[in-house]
Amino acid sequence: METLIAELPKVELHLHIEGTLEPELVFALARRNHIELPWGSVEALRSAYRFTDLQSFLDLYYQNAAVLCTARDFFDLTLAYLERCHQEKIVHTEIFFDPQTHTERGVPFSEVMEGLLEALDEGQRRWQISSRLILCFLRHLSEESAWQTLTEAEPWLDRLHGFGLDSGERGNPPEKFARVFARVRELGLPVVAHAGEEGPAGYIWQAMERLQVRRIDHGVRAIDDPELLEALARSRLPLTVCPLSNLRLQVVKTMSDHPMRHLLEHGLCVTVNSDDPAYFGGYLTANYRALVEGLSLSAGQVVQLALNGVEASWMSDGQKSHWCEQIQGIARAHGVGNL
Ligand code: HPA
Ligand code: ZN
Repeated sequence: METLIAELPKVELHLHIEGTLEPELVFALARRNHIELPWGSVEALRSAYRFTDLQSFLDLYYQNAAVLCTARDFFDLTLAYLERCHQEKIVHTEIFFDPQTHTERGVPFSEVMEGLLEALDEGQRRWQISSRLILCFLRHLSEESAWQTLTEAEPWLDRLHGFGLDSGERGNPPEKFARVFARVRELGLPVVAHAGEEGPAGYIWQAMERLQVRRIDHGVRAIDDPELLEALARSRLPLTVCPLSNLRLQVVKTMSDHPMRHLLEHGLCVTVNSDDPAYFGGYLTANYRALVEGLSLSAGQVVQLALNGVEASWMSDGQKSHWCEQIQGIARAHGVGNL
């Protein structure tokens, strides 16, 4: 199983680039930018990575993001993640970034974009990793702030592939951003939203009906609503599930309690993702491994999850057929029958 997971070409669809900021890089960037940190050492920072819920994580995540100041910082951060993709055979990645976290501190929007785009181009050149870039609005901030961010993003729309919604979910329902998302769709860009991570299944319905999302990020609370499960199975609207994130943020008690297997067997287009791998104890391969161990998934189910990733991605149809064939080939070599 270990070699099957390693050899399968994998796709990642739920990855916050700021969530790949490893403690070592926090220290290196703080030094470079003359920022004083409240932790005495890398180990002290790493030992603070014990979370009780989403907000306890977000507090540290936004605090650490303050070391990201220049295009070069965003380049280094993103290239380090892409190198990891190369090592783990992640062939395509769709990356979230949170510009408001940076522009609120006075970092120009263009610094963020230039660093990210240069690294994505370099990842394509060096390792043939294809990518998409998704701008996330912070839902704990106002609609007005989201409008302002959309205005800043307009000169860059040809390099952005979609818009998303993240940050603290409780009390910030998708409908708070219905008008901004309608404008994004008018501009011709697809939208996604975090929903049903800590928030209720009703927020998943809202994301579908009010925001007209192309995917739901997380969405695990769909298990509370049989009607929603049926709708998701019928439409195959994808869920980008993040198992280690759910464990570390106490969305599930243990990996054996994770609903992934139930969702998969119910016919939903569920995909495996790492969310904020520097904080949650592992990158994409570790998430596959944790699921297999916790839920006793079969090799066939692992292959199905990889295929779902391709189906749920925004790659071209040609690229999708190519990677499906590659996955089927690896599956056959491991004795996994027709899927
Ligand atoms: N949920 C909401 N916002 C986030 C997350 C998450 O898992 N990770 C980074 N921002
Ligand atoms: Zn997320």
